[in-house]
Amino acid sequence: MHDALFALRPWRKGPYQIFDTFIDTEWRSDWKWQRVSPHIASLEGRAVLDVGCGTGYHCWRMLGDGADYVLGIDPSMRFLVQHMAIQKYAQNPNFDLLPIGIEDMPSSMPLFDSVFSMGVLYHRRNPINHIIELKDLLASSGELVLETLIIDDVEGGILATKERYAQMRNVWSIMTVDKIISLIKQAGFTNVRCADQNVTSLDEQRRTEWMQFHSLKEFLDPHDISKTIEGYPAPKRGLFIATKC
Ligand SMILES: C[S@@+](CC[C@H](N)C(=O)[O-])C[C@H]1O[C@@H](n2cnc3c(N)ncnc32)[C@H](O)[C@@H]1O
Repeated sequence: MHDALFALRPWRKGPYQIFDTFIDTEWRSDWKWQRVSPHIASLEGRAVLDVGCGTGYHCWRMLGDGADYVLGIDPSMRFLVQHMAIQKYAQNPNFDLLPIGIEDMPSSMPLFDSVFSMGVLYHRRNPINHIIELKDLLASSGELVLETLIIDDVEGGILATKERYAQMRNVWSIMTVDKIISLIKQAGFTNVRCADQNVTSLDEQRRTEWMQFHSLKEFLDPHDISKTIEGYPAPKRGLFIATKC
């Protein structure tokens, strides 16, 4: 079993303990969950959608916190295969992962009591459209949990990144907290707040035996880790929570 799971590298989001095998993933996604869970509505009995769920690490944590059902969506086939490997042992009927992007979801299907979008907003070319897509999938009075990269201070509240940010090719823009709050309000949410801000540490995202490529250390300026190697501020993340009217 260890060898079969190891063959599915790189493992990015976790960690997972599968019987005797500890999958030491690139990211300590459990640390993100520790930052998120104290601020959100109880998941007890809720139907939850996790957009950009990766292998589904946070979906398992949502089920652990009482969610009735979790649908994770993520277009990456590698993440689907890793999820299937875990489901082979977990066999949980209340969790499905579909290999699709949010743009493939029905345009208005307001079924979910909580919708999470963590680490996705900056991958979307049109941020307000993404927030509206999330709203259209939320039931009335449902909760939006949006986690994303933020920047402290930039003219107009939005940094349009050139080519790469921390070596990632598909980061289109990074916004200030105020800008993100104003977009969420513009999309029609109430009770909008930024509940947490956190600079990603070299201990939270790092190379491991299960992910042997470059990681955050190589994506930062070797002489000044407050900057990316492209000269932008180093990754800082914000957690935004809002209610659908
Ligand atoms: C930075 S990772 C975040 C993973 C996880 N949500 C977390 O917070 O650790 C971004 C994820 O979004 C997924 N993604 C990219 N474009 C997407 C889209 N259009 N719809 C849904 N997910 C998308 C990627 O495949 C990737 O797994």
